[in-house]
Amino acid sequence: MLKSIEWTGRSLRIIDQTEIPSCLVYKDLNTIEEVFEAIQRLRVRGAPAIGIAAAYGLYLGLRTLEEENRDDFIAKARHYAEYLSQARPTAVNLGWALNRILSDLSKLNSGVRILPVEVLEIAQYLHQDDIERCNKIGEYGSELIEDGMTILTHCNTGLLATTGIGTALGIIYTARKKRKKITVLVDETRPLLQGARLTMWELHEAGIPATLITDGMAAYALQKRKVDMVIVGADRIAKNGDVANKIGTYNLAVNCRYHRVPFYVAAPLSSFDFLINSGDQIPIEERSCQEITDVLGRIAITVKGANCWNPAFDVTPANLIKGIITEGGIYRQPLLKTLNKLNKITYQN
Ligand code: MRU
Repeated sequence: MLKSIEWTGRSLRIIDQTEIPSCLVYKDLNTIEEVFEAIQRLRVRGAPAIGIAAAYGLYLGLRTLEEENRDDFIAKARHYAEYLSQARPTAVNLGWALNRILSDLSKLNSGVRILPVEVLEIAQYLHQDDIERCNKIGEYGSELIEDGMTILTHCNTGLLATTGIGTALGIIYTARKKRKKITVLVDETRPLLQGARLTMWELHEAGIPATLITDGMAAYALQKRKVDMVIVGADRIAKNGDVANKIGTYNLAVNCRYHRVPFYVAAPLSSFDFLINSGDQIPIEERSCQEITDVLGRIAITVKGANCWNPAFDVTPANLIKGIITEGGIYRQPLLKTLNKLNKITYQN
């Protein structure tokens, strides 16, 4: 299986996703700064994948430290975690992975020389854990899929976006493995074309037939092509079930409501942020104008100096979501109530 991220024993090897589909280029990252750059430039992307990359990035920063004192080491770890978490603001998985390491570190009694190795071990544990979470999401989600269904998806939520089989796309892989015949429609996902470049590439590599549409065609596809279900991923899910995901997701959810097509979100529990009450509090990353004025930073498609606004994510209100597929099962409406139970069981005990 293709690995978006791999620990080589010395460095963090990633697939440089900015090069896909033209070529498959691996890049070895050796410093925390290189990991920061790779996350910010979307060489590694997708909420779960950037969480795991950041976990290794923290280790790369800490392994060169020569602190003699445990408190100084932990203070430095906090400083590095703060630095890495600035790389991209929306996906909560980034902060989740880093906080998890900091919290585990503070409970360990190991001497300062051993601490970096402990950080690496936690990163490796989180990596393996992400793979397993994806498999479970695939199992639960694929139960919703029946033979002959047409499924529409947005952005890239597969092997490249996680360290396992993916979330929304992982469900499609699992359904295919179970020999369910499905038709997949893929939104191109303007402006960075994660659907056209990455999802179409992944599905092609896996031998799964897929049909590419532009984002603006989705409503027409829902009207004309008998789409049975839309499944997308998530970058952050608030306590009330509001979901931040790639820009264009909200359009899809609104269109699904109009056409009475079930709209599902697939995400690991590491994408939930129970510290915020609603989607209004989710920080939305705004990226450079050049991403929309020039196709893939190469060909200008508008007038020079055009005014533009480039939010990379939007928030879909919980009431438009039929269910959230996680590794712990499927949470259905009323989301506020079902997620409140989840919060109590998983996070407050
Ligand atoms: O900007 P990106 O490409 O990192 O955005 C990715 C998405 O929005 C995905 O849908 C989300 O992270 C879930 S990936 C399993």
